[in-house]
Amino acid sequence: MKTLLVTGGAGFIGSNFIRMMLVKYPDCRIVNVDALTYAGNLKNLRGIEKNPNYVFVKADVRDRKRMDDVFAEYGVDKVVHFAAESHVDRSITDPEVFLTTNVLGTQVLLDTAKKYWKTEPDNNHSREYKPDVKYLQVSTDEVYGALGKDGMFTETTPISPNSPYSASKAGADLLVRAYGETFGLPFNITRCSNNYGPYQFPEKLIPLMIHNCLRGEPLPIYGDGMQIRDWLHVSDHCEAIDTVLTKGRPGEVYNIGGNNEKANIDIVRLIISQTGASESLIRYVADRPGHDRRYAIDNTKITAHLGWKPKYTFEKGIHETINWYIDNKDWVENIISGDYRTN
Ligand SMILES: NC(=O)c1ccc[n+]([C@@H]2O[C@H](COP(=O)([O-])OP(=O)(O)OC[C@H]3O[C@@H](n4cnc5c(N)ncnc54)[C@H](O)[C@@H]3O)[C@@H](O)[C@H]2O)c1
Repeated sequence: MKTLLVTGGAGFIGSNFIRMMLVKYPDCRIVNVDALTYAGNLKNLRGIEKNPNYVFVKADVRDRKRMDDVFAEYGVDKVVHFAAESHVDRSITDPEVFLTTNVLGTQVLLDTAKKYWKTEPDNNHSREYKPDVKYLQVSTDEVYGALGKDGMFTETTPISPNSPYSASKAGADLLVRAYGETFGLPFNITRCSNNYGPYQFPEKLIPLMIHNCLRGEPLPIYGDGMQIRDWLHVSDHCEAIDTVLTKGRPGEVYNIGGNNEKANIDIVRLIISQTGASESLIRYVADRPGHDRRYAIDNTKITAHLGWKPKYTFEKGIHETINWYIDNKDWVENIISGDYRTN
């Protein structure tokens, strides 16, 4: 049986990914390593705890000894590294943990994978690895910085991050690339646009706006609300990651996006109209420092070379997502109250 190590599997995208993979590959064991920071919530994985192919390990990816133990105990074949500090606003108030988790945590995983996967781990000149091993770094389009009115990010767009979050993700990407160049580690990097869907922590735009609309609370909009993001349903992102994991050429970067550019204010208006809330709840607040104006992904490489394409239209995805948050108010309340940290 093959073993896939998923880090950060109690977060938004990681939990959606684990759910999908357990169904898709019934002969694969998934080891979920998560430190359960404020963003980690085991309720995102409710229902699968008893699956015999699923193992949860509460551990910090920065902890070299614990990562070594995980590789030794479970014989990991592949890694999908989601675990990260992921909220830009938090990176502006407290950048340090972004650097230690996102950069140094990545380095610990790279070192551990190299140690367990190299056929001659102590020989720096050997580039031979066990068959079928791969390290996949889940990154973000934010490493490319911001676009003007035109253009799209391709895989060769220069890295030019603008926030401590995106700088830490860019640093991690460069380390992954360097381990490929220097040690021959088989890797892929995926850079995806903004995700939406079930189990997203309610500090992020879409779940926050749905929650506030449902409660009749103010809807804070940064600046003029005209920041443009390229939205992708989380299940399309998860399918794309699996596509890269199984078919991606080692050493390659793949951008992931759904050709779905929307201004933040238009997303908020859509949520207002579907939830029946009032436009008078909108409050324009001071813009986020360094706020990127526009992101857009050119997804030609992954669609043309690997055959992936998104299944969701934005209209279907956002409709289902709003309904999910309406049907799962207990999940949201559990987070807002802080109870998810204790039970
Ligand atoms: N959300 C998006 O729109 C988006 C888009 C592109 C890429 N990404 C990337 O995808 C990944 C997952 O994003 P998300 O939105 O699911 O994040 P999230 O914040 O919802 O989840 C992060 C998870 O990582 C865990 N974690 C944090 N620090 C850890 C540590 N030191 N050791 C072990 N676990 C730790 C948390 O407990 C949490 O479960 C991130 O790497 C992010 O950069 C996210």
